[in-house]
This record gives sequence, structure tokens and C-alpha cells, in this order.
Amino acid sequence: MDSMIVTGGAGFIGANFVRLALARTSHRVIVLDKLTYAGNLESLRDVECEPRFAFVRGDICDGALVAQLLREHRPRWLVNFAAESHVDRSIDGPGAFVQTNTVGTFELLEAARLWASELPESARRAFRFLHVSTDEVYGTLGPTGSFSESTPYAPNSPYAASKAGADHLVRAYHETYGVPTLITNCSNNYGPFQYPEKLIPLVLLNALEGKALPIYGDGLNVRDWLYVEDHCDGILRVLERGVPGEKYNIGGHGELTNLVLVDTLCALLDELRPVAGNAALAGRPEVRRYADLKTFVADRPGHDRRYAIDAGRIERELGWQPSHAIADGLAATVRWYLDNRAWCDAVQAGKYARERLGGIRESR
Ligand code: NAD
Ligand code: DAU
Repeated sequence: MDSMIVTGGAGFIGANFVRLALARTSHRVIVLDKLTYAGNLESLRDVECEPRFAFVRGDICDGALVAQLLREHRPRWLVNFAAESHVDRSIDGPGAFVQTNTVGTFELLEAARLWASELPESARRAFRFLHVSTDEVYGTLGPTGSFSESTPYAPNSPYAASKAGADHLVRAYHETYGVPTLITNCSNNYGPFQYPEKLIPLVLLNALEGKALPIYGDGLNVRDWLYVEDHCDGILRVLERGVPGEKYNIGGHGELTNLVLVDTLCALLDELRPVAGNAALAGRPEVRRYADLKTFVADRPGHDRRYAIDAGRIERELGWQPSHAIADGLAATVRWYLDNRAWCDAVQAGKYARERLGGIRESR
């Protein structure tokens, strides 16, 4: 039976990917995850008993552990989701981002290079090292245009820079050593199991608790939203059909300003959990609908204005298309957060209280 090692599989996209990979492939799936604040076994509860699933708690920066896992499981695919992923936290403390995102990816590459060099020719040719990256490596766009695979890198946050460094190492390991690497650069994901520090779950949970909905700056920054299952489907497609040494942008033409997105989420909550029946808003006559909770706050330092993905290559060359319209995906996401308050409480408990992050004091 083929195996795959999935790093960061207890995080948001990783957990969604593990579920899809178990359903769509016959591979054994071995998750390597450090279980930082963002990694939670609660996100994998329904697959824990699956005989093709195994979990290893560990750090991708631990080269000896990675080498041992490669020898033990002989994976056909290694998929690297493990990362510090939150831009605001990278402003407060960039060191962990450089360590995990850049040095950690280097340790994975080095272990994979040494292990693959000893494989028989056929196994070496079948092996794929897929590095999951972001559109943020390309920097920011003006009002028009989109990022293609040949857009020059211009990262603006410590997070984006640490991911860009990793992408360059992945490319170098293909060019120099012939490691069969693939890189995917995806736009903003949304959907189940996203940690409540990110805009969509933060807005939903704050609204339900009658708290302010913080809009950075003027709220006109644009993000290109993709339902997480479509991203995971794209990664599987790249693993199956991608050309080693190539990179593929993934995005679903889902551009929205933050203000439009927050208004859409508020309107969905108004429909599914009206303010009038929400005990957290009892005695607050000034809040007639959730959008009344919107509050403009100081901007994120270095806040990229607009992202938009040109996904033409993966669509043309690998036949991938997103299958969730943004309206449907957002409605499904709102319903998921309404139905999974216990998960939301568990992953925040003792670690995070939806406080403002992101170097705001230093930037004033
Ligand atoms: P996440 O923060 O939800 O999860 C990250 C996971 O990595 C967690 O389970 C965490 O415990 C684990 N991890 C962190 N450091 C580790 C280490 N040193 N060793 C092993 N495990 C470690 O992140 P996410 O949003 O699921 O993002 C996953 C990947 O996709 C990241 O590489 C990110 O850069 C990329 N990406 C994310 C988005 C997005 O919108 N969320 C978009 C494009 C690309
Ligand atoms: O583009 C892909 C990237 O998308 C991924 O690489 C990152 O891992 C992921 O975190 C995400 O980064 P963003 O910075 O775009 O996501 P975030 O949810 O933090 O913010 C989305 C937008 O909303 C951004 O313009 C900042 C704004 N924002 C965010 C928060 C948390 C607010 O206005 N208020 C908030 O409270």
C-alpha cells in the first residue's frame, strides 16, 4: 500500500486534506505535527480510528525524526503544510516563522534528498515532495491584474518572507539535486476547522458573542477566497499529475473586499441566528443586526492591499476547477461554526481569547 506523510495535518488545511486524502486515495496517511496552538487533534477526531491513519507528534525542524519517518514509511508523497500561518503573529514574533517555515522546510528537503538518493530508480522517480505555499510571496497588487506563476516574489510580511525563503529552497533542491518537488501557491482559504484568529471565524464568533467585529484600516483590502476542500482537491491533482520542478497557483476567482465579506457573513448570521434570539445581545437595542458590530481599527502594519490568483496553469494543464461557489461555501462555513461551538471553545481554551494581534503598539 502506498503511503504519504502529511506535515501540519492537525491544522486547518492539513486536517481537511487528510480527510479528503483518506476518502479519495488508498494511501496510508501519516501526519507529522508539532501541535502548536494552531494544531489540534480535535480536528482529526473522526479519522483517528481509521486503520490507514497514523499520527506522530513532532517538529519538522527535527531532521533525525523526519529521516526516521521516511525510512519507516517509505512514502510516495510528502506534503508539507506545517507552518506558522498567521500574518499578525509574524509581526509580533517573526523568529518562529523563520524557524518553522524556512528552516523546517530545509530540514524536510535535506532528509528527503538523502533518503531518496538511496531509493531504487523506480521508487525515486515516483516520489513527490509537495510544498504548500501562499500567494502572499508575490506581494501586493494594485486595482487590476493577478498573480501568475512567473510573477516576481516580493513578500511584505515576515510570514510571507519566511514562506518565500522556503519556496526558493524547494526550487533549489529540484534544480541542484533533482529532488522531484512541486510547489502550490494558494489564495485565502475558508471553511471548517479554521483557527479563530483568522478573519472569517473571528468575525463569526465575535458576532455570536456580541463583540466588536474589527475591520483593519478602511476595510477595502481585497482577498481572493477559496473553499478549503477545493484547495485540497487541487493539491491532490498536483500530486497525481504535476510536473516535478513546477509550481502551480491555486485560486477560485473569489475576490472580495473585507467589508463586503464581513457584511455577507453578518447577513448569513442574521438569517440563521437572528440578533433578536441571541442572549448575548439581549439589552443591546443599538445592535439591530450583526453588521452594527463592525468597528474600524488601526491597520495591520505592511497590510497588502489586494491579492488575486491567475489559476490558468492548473486549470489548463491539470484540468482542475473549484467546485464551490463562494456564496455556497460561505453559507456552509457559517453553518459549520454554528454547529461546532464545542470545537471552537476547545481550540481556544487557555491559549487565545481573540485579542488584537499584530504589532499594533510598535506601529503607532
Ligand atoms: P494552520 O496554522 O491552521 O496549521 C499549521 C499546522 O502546522 C498546525 O497543525 C501546527 O501544529 C503545525 N506546525 C506548526 N509548526 C510546526 C512544526 N515546526 N513542525 C510540525 N508541525 C508544525 O495553517 P493552515 O492555514 O492550515 O495553513 C497550512 C499551510 O498552507 C501553511 O503552510 C500555509 O502557509 C499555507 N497556506 C495557507 C492558506 C490559508 O488561507 N490558510 C493559504 C495558502 C497557503
Ligand atoms: O493569501 C493567503 C494567506 O491568507 C495565507 O498564506 C495565510 O496563512 C492566511 O492566514 C491568510 O492571510 P491573511 O492575512 O489574508 O488572512 P487573515 O484572516 O489574517 O486576514 C484576512 C484579511 O482581513 C486581511 O486583509 C486582514 C483583515 N483582517 C484580519 C483580521 C484577523 C481584519 O480586517 N480584521 C481582523 O481582525
